[in-house]
Amino acid sequence: METKKTLILEADAQGFSAAGEIIRRGGLVVFPTETVYGLGANALDAGACAKIFQAKGRPQDNPLIVHTAEVFGLARLASVTPRAAAIIKAFMPGPLSLVLPKNQDIPAAVTAGLPTVGLRVPSDPAAYRFLKAAGVPVAAPSANVSGKPSPTSFAMARAAMEGRADAIIRGGDSRIGLESTIVRITESGLEILRPGGVSEEDLRAVAKDCLVRGLASPLPGEAPPAPGMKYAHYKPRAEVLLFPTGTWNPKMIGCAGKTGVLTLGEKAAPLSGHVLVREMKSVEEYARRLYAEFFVFDSLGCDRILAECPPEEGLGRAVANRLLKASGGRFF
Ligand code: TXA
Ligand code: MG
Repeated sequence: METKKTLILEADAQGFSAAGEIIRRGGLVVFPTETVYGLGANALDAGACAKIFQAKGRPQDNPLIVHTAEVFGLARLASVTPRAAAIIKAFMPGPLSLVLPKNQDIPAAVTAGLPTVGLRVPSDPAAYRFLKAAGVPVAAPSANVSGKPSPTSFAMARAAMEGRADAIIRGGDSRIGLESTIVRITESGLEILRPGGVSEEDLRAVAKDCLVRGLASPLPGEAPPAPGMKYAHYKPRAEVLLFPTGTWNPKMIGCAGKTGVLTLGEKAAPLSGHVLVREMKSVEEYARRLYAEFFVFDSLGCDRILAECPPEEGLGRAVANRLLKASGGRFF
């Protein structure tokens, strides 16, 4: 891949204006959101969107989510049914993407040929200012090289995308830290295609009149409902091994190589220069810090990461989902 000169833009009026200009000219801009940093291009420009796939090394059949600054921008991009309108009203702006039948303006390059499009309105103020400045809908996957953890800070976004994007906005740390919940509406109700900041319980509380189906693995031979599901994801360089909540044993650390440990709540661990323990006080903190801790462990040359897999409820489902992918489902 050819290396680009990447501008670093400040999150101020001048920076957002320059970022908007780059998007309208068909370039790629990395921008902060409350979930993770995104790698954006003009969603109405098929050529610009093609550059995203190249910059990330992303498989061509994995569609992109389209972002707008405001909720009322969505109706121009997709068919918004009454049920969709209720979900939009309850959760957008916020960490949720809704899959809806696309309208004709959205190029096939964005949806990988699917008749539907994933739509999101971020709640992060810097994302809002960037999208307003762009003035066009912005297609954006997470700003990582395909298969790697998503960036949740400017430093991580820069490490991943310098030389690949035209510009990176110097934003703050992502408040949620995991990618958005992806929801699809079917005749029988709502289906979660990817758990995230809006939980199954949150959706049930709003969509009382309909069935909310949690994340289901595709059956063997069946096409995955979100094309991205079939690929390896969120993997740091270090090998990740999980242990279920309540099964911590310091002996798991062993003595082979440098080990990073992620725990939920305090745990007794041996004091050693080869062991780095990070204790998360809540699942919210776990979600927010997960990818950043992966980044630190990799930077410090850890060979192995031992991570506590939280109970599958609320936001814990999203954390567990990312950990299962990062580890390839391997438990200690
Ligand atoms: O929080 C997020 O959603 C971030 C920020 C930047 O907004 N974006 C993000 O995009 O995580 P990405 O490309 O890393 O993940 C998008 C996922 C993929 O698994 C893709 O297969 C799925 O969304 N997806 C996109 N459009 C879809 C569609 N029409 N139907 C089903 N799945 C879709
Ligand atoms: Mg991604």
